[in-house]
Amino acid sequence: MNILILGSGGREHAFAKKLSESNKITKLFVAPGNAGTSAVATNIAINPTNFNQVKEVVLQNDITMVVVGPEAPLVEGIHDFFLADSELKNIAVIGPKKDGALLEGSKDFSKQFMIKHGIPTARYESFTSETLQKGQAFLETLSPPYVLKADGLAGGKGVLILTDLGQAKSELKEMLSNQKFGDASATVVIEEFLKGIELSVFVLTDGKNYKILPSAKDYKRIGEGDAGLNTGGMGAISPVPFATDDFLQKVEDLVVKPTINGLQKDGIDYRGFIFIGLMNDNGNPSVVEYNVRMGDPETEVVLPRIESDLVDLFEGVANRTLDKKSYKVTSQTATTVMLVAGGYPEAYEKGKEITGFDLAEDSIVFHAGTTLKDGKVVSNGGRVMAITSFGDSIQEALDKSYKSIDKISFEGMNYRKDIGFDLV
Ligand code: AMP
Ligand code: GLY
Repeated sequence: MNILILGSGGREHAFAKKLSESNKITKLFVAPGNAGTSAVATNIAINPTNFNQVKEVVLQNDITMVVVGPEAPLVEGIHDFFLADSELKNIAVIGPKKDGALLEGSKDFSKQFMIKHGIPTARYESFTSETLQKGQAFLETLSPPYVLKADGLAGGKGVLILTDLGQAKSELKEMLSNQKFGDASATVVIEEFLKGIELSVFVLTDGKNYKILPSAKDYKRIGEGDAGLNTGGMGAISPVPFATDDFLQKVEDLVVKPTINGLQKDGIDYRGFIFIGLMNDNGNPSVVEYNVRMGDPETEVVLPRIESDLVDLFEGVANRTLDKKSYKVTSQTATTVMLVAGGYPEAYEKGKEITGFDLAEDSIVFHAGTTLKDGKVVSNGGRVMAITSFGDSIQEALDKSYKSIDKISFEGMNYRKDIGFDLV
């Protein structure tokens, strides 16, 4: 079969590599892709949120399955667009429809969903500009730190965690009355701060059956020791050592099952990934957020650990036969370290030639922000490459990733030298 992957990051390169290894693949396409995906698939330079362009590509290339990487096309309804089109309605889309994508597209919706279905999460209330005063009064009932979340998609920047009550009140006003995050902050969720240590669990579901994919921990801050600005993610580790069997059983019973059952009860036919951001507080899980896609760079450690055929699993998702599909994961640890452009996550330059990545024999090099220019691989984004390695321990895998990185260079290259510092 011919498959189209939408997106252009390290996550999509990891999908492309894994899908290309299946003997069920005839042709693989990535739109728009990057320099790495062009080595295992055909890149097509279209914008994944331009659904008419996606349609053209699908029909021209006899594509029978579309795998959606990022959240934007899902939240904007690409799956619904396919179902409503007579020429596209039988093409499998891996990713939820608009109603399911609201789990990520609206924090208020996802909190309501969790409360309704008894899924452990922080106590919260939602406010709009009309209820600003009530919101400020609600803040007074909480103890610091204060957690303010823009309801809608805000490119990963819509969550503020503040220690000062006065500042929390004024930021609430900025979000609600002065549209700090545009329409995304027309509604703001205020919630209790959760203590504990964070990790992510990924679920692949056909709406009824599910497979729990490997857990992962991501390092979001730019600086060592988890200091400085938030990024898309500077590295990741899978599995997470503190996610013990006992903890993961609790996650399945208290979070995964009620989530899948809740979707069914609410009439939401969900086929795709659910990324569950969790806090582990003394062995008890609490949901921080849902995303309706895989994480980046978590995908770069989760997918390489899956030994089963991913096309086969995706067919199970599309045909609602996921329970019949075999699913195996290696016990080895995978680590990834992200190479980023100098200045990222603030202003940075693109177009820097990248050398030495072909010498990283003990690692898998996933391209993120890269492109081909005059036959050379050059940087094309803030997060440039994710260097993934396997080991019998976190340390062994990390040593391989860092040894590979010693061979790679581009002007301004930066990376965290302490990925996994809290785990080893
Ligand atoms: P989100 O976009 O919901 O993932 O929030 C971004 C980050 O803020 C999360 O990854 C957490 O580190 C942190 N965060 C969000 N909500 C809470 C909370 N209720 N308590 C503590 N930390 C939180
Ligand atoms: N690495 C976090 C995310 O993909 O949202």
